[in-house]
Amino acid sequence: MSRATIPIARAVAVAAGATLSGAEAANHFLRPGTLQLGVLPPLSLYVHLPWCLKKCPYCDFNSHEQRDGLPQARYLEALRADLEAALPLVWGRRVISVFIGGGTPSLFDPASIERLLADIRALLPLQAGAEITMEANPGTFERERFRDFRAAGVTRLSIGVQSFDDAALQRIGRVHDAAQARAAVACAAETFETFNLDLMYALPGQSLAELQSDLDIALAFSPPHLSIYHLTLEPNTLFASQPPVLPDDDCASDMLDLIAERTAEHGLQRYEVSAFARPGHRCTHNLNYWQFGDYLGIGAGAHGKLSFPHRVLRQVRWREPAAYMAQALAGQAVSNQHEVARRDLPFEFMLGALRLREGFELGRFRERTGLPLSSVQAALDRAQARGLLEPISGAAPVGAPGAAVVDGLRPTVRGFDFLSDLQAMFLPEG
Ligand SMILES: C[S@@+](CC[C@H](N)C(=O)[O-])C[C@H]1O[C@@H](n2cnc3c(N)ncnc32)[C@H](O)[C@@H]1O
Ligand code: SF4
Repeated sequence: MSRATIPIARAVAVAAGATLSGAEAANHFLRPGTLQLGVLPPLSLYVHLPWCLKKCPYCDFNSHEQRDGLPQARYLEALRADLEAALPLVWGRRVISVFIGGGTPSLFDPASIERLLADIRALLPLQAGAEITMEANPGTFERERFRDFRAAGVTRLSIGVQSFDDAALQRIGRVHDAAQARAAVACAAETFETFNLDLMYALPGQSLAELQSDLDIALAFSPPHLSIYHLTLEPNTLFASQPPVLPDDDCASDMLDLIAERTAEHGLQRYEVSAFARPGHRCTHNLNYWQFGDYLGIGAGAHGKLSFPHRVLRQVRWREPAAYMAQALAGQAVSNQHEVARRDLPFEFMLGALRLREGFELGRFRERTGLPLSSVQAALDRAQARGLLEPISGAAPVGAPGAAVVDGLRPTVRGFDFLSDLQAMFLPEG
């Protein structure tokens, strides 16, 4: 169906964020437009499981305290319905990675995760050997459960440790203790070829020596991947209304230097602002986000980004788990969607690309945004003049030995230190 055949009232509804039925919507988003995406980016799948044992006081993720047990069967049905309805938007596209995040996905039974992955495989073509990550919290599983998640098809576990210090864990309201954190990591190392640890630093009352101890313990497990986040006080959290005393900026900066030093000594490369990996263990799924790849997001409150030959679409699902289940089962999982405006695309691209140590190839900007490079040339020049970006040179062209060809750009050390300023240079003017 072309745009002209969609009734006007429905076309207006799409513009306002409501949804059309799958096939109708697919045709709607395939209509001509001013962007020119020659090829579509790699596609990932994100699945959100929104329940936790207890809400942490710093957390602004869409996570809800589990009160009367988890409605696992109904939620899985809703996820399947959500995915089925979304299929026309991704027809014929192969999925390179799956990320089951939360919330605390490890609260779900291994049998439920197995069914979820079976449904996904039945409905979507997964690339052979696709990375399938699942988040797990210490204390919510036993050794056997872990093996069962592995047997269900999970290839990579991401463990939310945050700290190995009992007092620090208590101050940030975690339900697990340091011994459970160590046990969880040891178990992941035994069961999975690749896994990630999430740590946070600049925690309430944390000293440099305490962070050093957290790092030493983490690194002793030789993790293939570490994500280390500076604790932030997010609006609408308990910590925002009752802020704890946090290390000052100078101390946090010393902490970051220590993290960079210790991880490098252990052969972990900082390939993204907060992500450190051994060779061959970078997170395919997150890399696809940062490189402005596509992702279908299913589950309560999940976000998605999908490209078409002439536009880029962003979607959000209903946020409250009960509302999401009811809406998804009625074929209406999407609560809001909009086409990314042409003027917003450069900033959206740079938001992820400039988080990467290796930056981005110039061709990738054109390919993923559908815009000519001239749309950002002035900002790129300004960022280079301020020493925030530097060129990545490729091979010299045949017949011009010695001539450097700029293939891409990456943030300088200073650019990494002033990342938000650098990213803001690509905001639309006016
Ligand atoms: C989706 S969250 C939660 C994963 C898992 N439920 C957990 O809590 O361990 C992924 C990671 O984001 C980080 N995170 C969450 N809130 C944060 C905050 N306010 N500041 C910094 N990092 C945060 C934590 O390291 C967390 O493990
Ligand atoms: S366990 Fe993780 S997702 Fe749940 S409330 Fe805590 S930080 Fe948020």
